Amino acid sequence: MNKIGVSLLGLGVVGGGVASVIQEKSNYLKKHLGVSISLESVLVRDKTKSRTVSVSNDIYVNSIDDILDNPEVHVVIEVMGGEYPAFDYIMQSINKGKNVITANKELIAKHGPEIFQAARDNNVRVLFEASVGGGTPIVSPLMRDLVGNHIKSIKAIINGTTNYILTKMSKEALGYEHVLKEAQTLGYAESDPTNDVEGFDAAYKLAILSTIGFRTSVKVKDIYVEGITSLESQDFKYASELGYEIKLLAIATLDKENIQARVHPGLIEKKEMLANVDGVLNAVEIETDLTDKVLFHGPGAGAMPTTSAIIADLLNIARNLIDNIPLIDPLRLSEDCTVQPITELISKYYFRIEADDQPGVLGAIAAIFGSYGISISSFIQKESIYNKDSAELVIMTHDSKELLINNAIVDIQDLDSVTNINNVIRVIG
Ligand code: NAP
Ligand code: HSE
Repeated sequence: MNKIGVSLLGLGVVGGGVASVIQEKSNYLKKHLGVSISLESVLVRDKTKSRTVSVSNDIYVNSIDDILDNPEVHVVIEVMGGEYPAFDYIMQSINKGKNVITANKELIAKHGPEIFQAARDNNVRVLFEASVGGGTPIVSPLMRDLVGNHIKSIKAIINGTTNYILTKMSKEALGYEHVLKEAQTLGYAESDPTNDVEGFDAAYKLAILSTIGFRTSVKVKDIYVEGITSLESQDFKYASELGYEIKLLAIATLDKENIQARVHPGLIEKKEMLANVDGVLNAVEIETDLTDKVLFHGPGAGAMPTTSAIIADLLNIARNLIDNIPLIDPLRLSEDCTVQPITELISKYYFRIEADDQPGVLGAIAAIFGSYGISISSFIQKESIYNKDSAELVIMTHDSKELLINNAIVDIQDLDSVTNINNVIRVIG
């Protein structure tokens, strides 16, 4: 083998980065491998679109078949995104004996086991470091370096777009729509940013991390997901006064055979490391039996950080092809754990309740909490920005079961003196 042939499915934010690094670092890559990496072909939707990277016109192909039928292509890099046709293209590539690299978390989260089985059957490799954490290595360390550990918990900020938005809303009091547009311009957001802001992107990534970490299948459908769209400026203001930041957190815990997996905004004390992960940065804290806590921290999105992860996968596959250096077989999973519903969660909660500014209102609310055995840890009264005759009551609870919190929410909402429960946010301990 005197060169490694590569095809790109997609030449957008990430594909553009990968193409430019393969071209600009060709000498470095050749020196490292002893053979050159050759960009053989590129598949896009619209060949006439202007690109951030310039590639020769004759490497654009018309269909996936042009790639599948080309014996010079050893590695297919899928950076198109979405479930279909990406899944079909990856399976066809594997079945044609091509190695695959993907940045597509949705695909790995939903179809990982099927893809890896096909890869084993065809004796090819499928790597997906870029699917979680952008340029921050986390998939490979979890599979290789921490493999001797029992993973107890994964606590992470793994969506760069929402972390960018929340940081700007918190630190610069900027509006949500404005900051989302910035994140899209910077190339952080998914082609449909609903996946970012509604928490699905983080849930796909948490499914991947917890499946690898706990070595059992954690399905996206079993992960509780809540996005950031209900957060308002007052939440950031009151959280800050109480000593907290608000982050979109992805958390998975394993206790005996019980898994809790959830993505939602959380109040986190300012002194905590995760509270200080700002902008597009991601951070993943893994707690294990042998190491206690290990932290991975770095850029979670954007063209070049993501390209870094893909190029690492490419070099690993190339070394395997050239020198037969073995790769880790990704996933051999047990099926003996169950994912618990969110109603089983024990957490502290922040309430922001709009209510009449009259005697007895707080007592009525406190009585409802008391009736469910929920203990209040602090209370502040604020002026309502909605109505001059109302007040906003900011109430923090001690640890309670989510099921009881849900019951209390229903009863509080029923009080005539309560206009609305403006927000309820879990507090991360
Ligand atoms: P993007 O900028 O929207 O680029 C997508 C590319 O795929 C475009 O070149 C598009 O072609 C091509 N494409 C889409 N559907 C196609 C189809 N049916 N047939 C042929 N080509 C098709 O997306 P991106 O931001 O690079 O993201 C790509 C993948 O990387 C996604 O899975 C994403 O989740 C993942 N990822 C992204 C980042 C990031 O920071 N952006 C970070 C980590 C992982 P046209 O250009 O002709 O439209
Ligand atoms: N849209 C994703 C994010 C890209 O913002 O984190 C990286 O996976």
